[in-house]
Amino acid sequence: MPLEIDSDRLLAEIEALASISAADPPAVTRIVFTPADLKARAWLKAKCEEAGLVVRQDAIGNTFARWNGAESGAAVGTGSHMDAIPNAGKYDGVVGVLGGLEAIRALQRSGFRPRHSIELLVFTSEEPTRFGIGCLGSRLLSGTLSPDAAKRLTDKDGQSVEEVRRNEGLQGELKDVRLAEDYYKAFVELHIEQGPRLEREQFPLGVVTNIAAPASARIILEGAGGHAGSVLMPDRRDALCAAAELILAVENAARSSGAIDTVATVGICDVFPGAVNSIPSRVTLTVDIRDTDLKRRDGVMREMEVASHAISANRHVSIDTELLNADAPARCDPTIIDALSEACRKHQLSFLPMPSRAYHDSLFMSHVAPTAMLFIPCRHGYSHRPDEYASPEDIARGTLVLAETLAVLASG
Ligand code: HGY
Ligand code: MN
Ligand code: MN
Repeated sequence: MPLEIDSDRLLAEIEALASISAADPPAVTRIVFTPADLKARAWLKAKCEEAGLVVRQDAIGNTFARWNGAESGAAVGTGSHMDAIPNAGKYDGVVGVLGGLEAIRALQRSGFRPRHSIELLVFTSEEPTRFGIGCLGSRLLSGTLSPDAAKRLTDKDGQSVEEVRRNEGLQGELKDVRLAEDYYKAFVELHIEQGPRLEREQFPLGVVTNIAAPASARIILEGAGGHAGSVLMPDRRDALCAAAELILAVENAARSSGAIDTVATVGICDVFPGAVNSIPSRVTLTVDIRDTDLKRRDGVMREMEVASHAISANRHVSIDTELLNADAPARCDPTIIDALSEACRKHQLSFLPMPSRAYHDSLFMSHVAPTAMLFIPCRHGYSHRPDEYASPEDIARGTLVLAETLAVLASG
């Protein structure tokens, strides 16, 4: 039987999952371990069981749905995440989860029988929204975050990962989440590009060669508050003006790195006390700095540190920086890249070898398995916003190439 993707069913499932959200459509919000996330997990588990997959969860809630192969031993993994940041779109992560499920179902329908098991893996908390660090589930799977460090992470209400996971009934210990070295013989993640290149250069698919190195930090600036009318300018230690100078210094460091691959973003700026007629005494910033090149990324972080010291001295404002994560970039595995490329050629589909500027769970899965990613275009490159969009044709093409690739990897 030919390998065919049931595009209508897949699109209907993407819409159904999008409706499991804490936001009004077209926005999607699904923060880890909130009611929307828990409902989505239950919905997906039922879908996987409907497909005859054996489903289990580990101690942090990573969900494994396995199609057992003829042989035991290392499996072929695919998957992504279902959690979504506030005011997100419906495709980020979801295309890799539901596309992965449909790829497995299409292989089942075609009569293919895997020699090695094929497993859909849905990661816990790829987004940093709740606990401040992204890829919590895949960091624990790959051993790049210690169980103790994970337990100490807290959300804005001071609830720890340990408390939250226990409250949700997750059994077992975080120390047992780490995968054995030979657990997967390959891992492939299907994802929207979250950038404009494929659309702009008119490629239907991207084969990811490397994943940029992400780092983030929380910066607290403390000056002196006071009355907006009576404190004269020479007497001020305005924390928000100091923050403004630092934000521009970070932007300048990224812009002047000498490479287009360097990016820096201040995504959160909390001002205290936040009254129009009160001088800001404390500002909390979060900074996100990335580059495909580790040295350049770390160079921007050093420039941020130098600027912090200078601004602190000039303005008599204390500036404390807490590093949240500083991860190495990942090179995707040549054998998996070849398998994806071959699958594209088999269907006469052109593809663009390209870096991923977004990070993904594959950044960490590359520590424990030969890993690569397959991108489909998203309109105007928009992502992390309600008008994120991938066409039915692109989703079906990506799922078909994923299915072909899984078949080759699970046969070899
Ligand atoms: O921020 C990222 O790169 C990912 O989409 N969480
Ligand atoms: Mn995302
Ligand atoms: Mn994602």
